[in-house]
Amino acid sequence: MKISICGKGGSGKSTIVTLLAKAAREKDMSVLVVDSDESNSGLFKMLGFERPPIPLMELIGGKSSLKKKLSEPDIFQEPQISVNDLPPQYIQNKDNLAIVSIGKILQSLEGCACPMGVLNREFLKKLHLKENEVAIVDMEAGVEHFGRGVDDSIDRVLLVAEPSFESICVAEKIQGMAVHIKKRVYAVLNKVPSQELASKLEDKLNKKGIKVIGSIPYDPVVFEACLEGKPINNGDAIHASARILDGLLGERKTSREKTSCA
Ligand SMILES: Nc1ncnc2c1ncn2[C@@H]1O[C@H](COP(=O)(O)OP(=O)(O)OP(=O)(O)O)[C@@H](O)[C@H]1O
Ligand SMILES: [Mg+2]
Repeated sequence: MKISICGKGGSGKSTIVTLLAKAAREKDMSVLVVDSDESNSGLFKMLGFERPPIPLMELIGGKSSLKKKLSEPDIFQEPQISVNDLPPQYIQNKDNLAIVSIGKILQSLEGCACPMGVLNREFLKKLHLKENEVAIVDMEAGVEHFGRGVDDSIDRVLLVAEPSFESICVAEKIQGMAVHIKKRVYAVLNKVPSQELASKLEDKLNKKGIKVIGSIPYDPVVFEACLEGKPINNGDAIHASARILDGLLGERKTSREKTSCA
């Protein structure tokens, strides 16, 4: 299963990626985290790795040669790419938890992030997962990835919504774009300070046709781990995310049987 994590900037996407990766590992699944955020670069630390993988953009020779390389024989020419096909320097791997990075903007005036979007879309399309493998994709903030078709091969779109007006606006846009490509959106409430506000936020999302599958409280343990750039090892958010993963995996059969969004 390929799960994308998307939502407004700062809503908690990367945090939830790390929490879901941990929950999946605890279920003995092999996890591939795909870091497709071209700006932020600390995800590898939150997952407990000492160094980041070399971005896949380098594997194909950098942004400028993307077009040429995609038409030359290399692993991107194969119909499928398995996790084991990736050369070791482009993947960090420890105890069945792995991370790849699509590409980062590193210099001023280097141009836009469109090539990263193209590469991400092609990689996810070709990525072949075994029965017990799950890919969790940390998307860049906002909706541009939908515009680029990155979500086309995703099985589950998990939308992170925090209690803010802007977050609900982004959620509504994501819902519309996902329905357009026949994907079902599942929402997780994050940084929720009280049950009362959780209900209010859920109600607003339900009115826009978005199904909420879980809620993660505002948790100081999470905040501190993110501040230090360290894995989250305890706290309420961990228990909540295990239930959210179960919810996503539990609906696997139902969604494969469907041909379009309900
Ligand atoms: N449940 C939570 N409890 C407390 N703090 C949280 C929680 N979730 C996220 N945060 C905090 O919110 C901030 C943003 O989180 P995070 O980086 O995961 O968001 P993001 O959506 O990935 O941001 P970006 O759009 O920049 O990639 C961090 O400081 C993080 O510690
Ligand atoms: Mg992030």
